[in-house]
Amino acid sequence: MQNYDVIIIGAGAAGLMCAATAGYRGRNVLVLDHAKQAGKKILISGGGRCNFTNVKVEPANYICSNPHFVKSALARYPSQQFIELVERHGIEYHQRDHGQLFCNDSAKEIVNMLMTECEWAGVNVQLRTEILSVEKNDDDGFTVTTSNGDFRCNSLVIATGGLSMPKLGATPFGYKLAEQFGLQVLPTRAGLVPFTWHSDAKQQFETLSGIAVPSTITAQDGTQFSEALLFTHRGLSGPAILQISNYWQSGEAIGINLLPNDDLAELMEKQLQSSPKQSLKNALAKRLPKRLLEALFDEVLLAKSLNQLIHAEIEQVCQQIHSWQLLMNNTEGYRTAEVTLGGVDTNELSSKTFESKKVSGLYFIGEVIDVSGWLGGFNFQFSWSSGVACGQAC
Ligand code: FDA
Repeated sequence: MQNYDVIIIGAGAAGLMCAATAGYRGRNVLVLDHAKQAGKKILISGGGRCNFTNVKVEPANYICSNPHFVKSALARYPSQQFIELVERHGIEYHQRDHGQLFCNDSAKEIVNMLMTECEWAGVNVQLRTEILSVEKNDDDGFTVTTSNGDFRCNSLVIATGGLSMPKLGATPFGYKLAEQFGLQVLPTRAGLVPFTWHSDAKQQFETLSGIAVPSTITAQDGTQFSEALLFTHRGLSGPAILQISNYWQSGEAIGINLLPNDDLAELMEKQLQSSPKQSLKNALAKRLPKRLLEALFDEVLLAKSLNQLIHAEIEQVCQQIHSWQLLMNNTEGYRTAEVTLGGVDTNELSSKTFESKKVSGLYFIGEVIDVSGWLGGFNFQFSWSSGVACGQAC
């Protein structure tokens, strides 16, 4: 039986950050992971360039049943501190829309940085290790039984992430462990995920696959995102859709504004004055792809000249383009989701240390908790911030 001060299960974003922080405090730290490689999700994130944080991170960028929970960790380890860490390691990065920061070269640099920090902090990272059981000892502390032997620790940190992308090694381990110790786990569902068509809509719209347009998407609770919308073979994707999927419940319609920066009624009125004989299709094609117009409107209507349109037809066109209400079938699920909504109930945890209020010495950090961020580097930032907060305490 090998003894450690801290065992962290999960060598992902939160686990590695926590390990280095605890290691620098002089704690004897072991990180265990069943994967062959540490930080697999980091490696594929941001199209291989890792959107590692955002210049402006606020509690409002997170979905959590207790919206105050994230405040303490984000305030104590804000994105600026992670940016400084990245700079100290000489990693070059750039800023994209909405304050998103990406590596110039490769996400590998972020994993290498975390592994280097762990090495400098004296952390032992052991991969390819199956966790067989976890028990709380009578004399405090925990025993972790693994495929590579038994380990004992005083503090046990669960950083096994959510359910998204099972191909990358995601498992429900963290939720099961929470339940084993009597902690409440809130229902989980896929987040930051594309939508799929109903079968009739599929027939109508699948030919639009590849078309991207600016949009504003509105969920039923009024949440809105203005970003690109992408038509795919299976349904809808693009940043606006991924963002709104976090606020969508099965059976709800989404509102789509395909011309968020224009007032179509005004535009059509101007066109009517300047070119009354122009067809509706040609008038609209100045703003929207023809293929999209053909899928949305009847051929006969599109062929009418602007001066032939009656008021009700103009209203119908404006309504369809500015407030298209669309019922989606479902999401693509965990297979392609970037995050998992729900998870270990934050009411069970200290927002300062991430320790369980019921089981002393047991901590949960990162995505396994009921905290999910918007697209844009917010999920990694919560992993860094919760990892550091826990690493300072465990
Ligand atoms: P994470 O999933 O990173 O790590 C969990 C670790 O636990 C893994 O190493 C896993 O192998 C291990 N594990 C799981 N079960 C285990 C078990 N039973 N036994 C042992 N080990 C186990 N976010 C962002 O901010 N910017 C971005 O650019 C992206 N991009 C992105 C792309 C894609 C395709 C995905 C799927 C996700 C993103 N994300 C993102 C989200 C981000 O990757 C995610 O929020 C963090 O990785 C969560 O960090 P954690 O450390 O909590 O879990």
